[in-house]
Amino acid sequence: MTATPGRAAASGATLRKATSDDVDAILDIITAHAEQLLPRHAHDIVALLDTFWVVEEHGRLVGCCCLEVYSPKIAEVRSLAVREDARGRGYGAMLVEAAVQEARRRHIPQILVVTSNVEFFSRLNFQTCLNEKYALFWEDPAVQRERALVRLDPQGGS
Ligand SMILES: CC(C)(COP(=O)(O)OP(=O)(O)OC[C@H]1O[C@@H](n2cnc3c(N)ncnc32)[C@H](O)[C@@H]1OP(=O)(O)O)[C@@H](O)C(=O)NCCC(=O)NCCS
Repeated sequence: MTATPGRAAASGATLRKATSDDVDAILDIITAHAEQLLPRHAHDIVALLDTFWVVEEHGRLVGCCCLEVYSPKIAEVRSLAVREDARGRGYGAMLVEAAVQEARRRHIPQILVVTSNVEFFSRLNFQTCLNEKYALFWEDPAVQRERALVRLDPQGGS
C-alpha cells in the first residue's frame, strides 16, 4: 500500500496531514498507547503539525504518526499508533511510509525509531543496527517519572 496523503484506502480511510483540529484526537490515541509511546503535550503536537499524519476512517481518527526532524542528517518516527480495532488494514505501514517519503523529500538520509516492535519496522526496511553498532540512550530521570505517572493516570499526561 503506498502512502499518498489524501488518498482513500479500500476501506474508506484517508491518510492526510494532521491539522490543529486533530490535536485532541491525536492525544487520545497516544494516551491509549501509554505502554508503548512517550507522552506528548498538545503544544508538542501543534509544533509538529507539518510532519504529523493521521488516518481517518469514517470521520474518526484511527491512527497517527510523526516525523521529528533533528537535523539535516537524521529524523525520528514518533507517536506511531493505530487503534486496536483498526489494525491489520495497512494503516501503520501507510503512516510510516508517509514519514519516510517526507524524509526523502527533505534529503534526510537516516530515520531512527525507538520501539519494542522490531518485526513491524523490519518489514518496512528499518534495521536493528548500523555497521554493527547499537543505539544506546541516556534518559532524564524526570522523563522516566513522567512516563510512570502517565501510566498510573493516563488523563494526567495530556
Ligand atoms: C505497530 C502498529 C502501528 C501497526 O499498525 P497496523 O495498522 O496494524 O499495521 P499494518 O496493518 O500496516 O501492518 C503492516 C505489516 O506489518 C505487520 N504487522 C503489524 N503489526 C505487527 C506486529 N505487532 N508485529 C509484527 N508484524 C506486524 C502486518 O502483518 C503487515 O505485514 P504485511 O505487509 O506482510 O501484511 C500497531 O500495532 C500499534 O499501534 N501498536 C501499538 C503502538 C506501537 O507499538 N507503536 C510503535 C512504537 S514506535
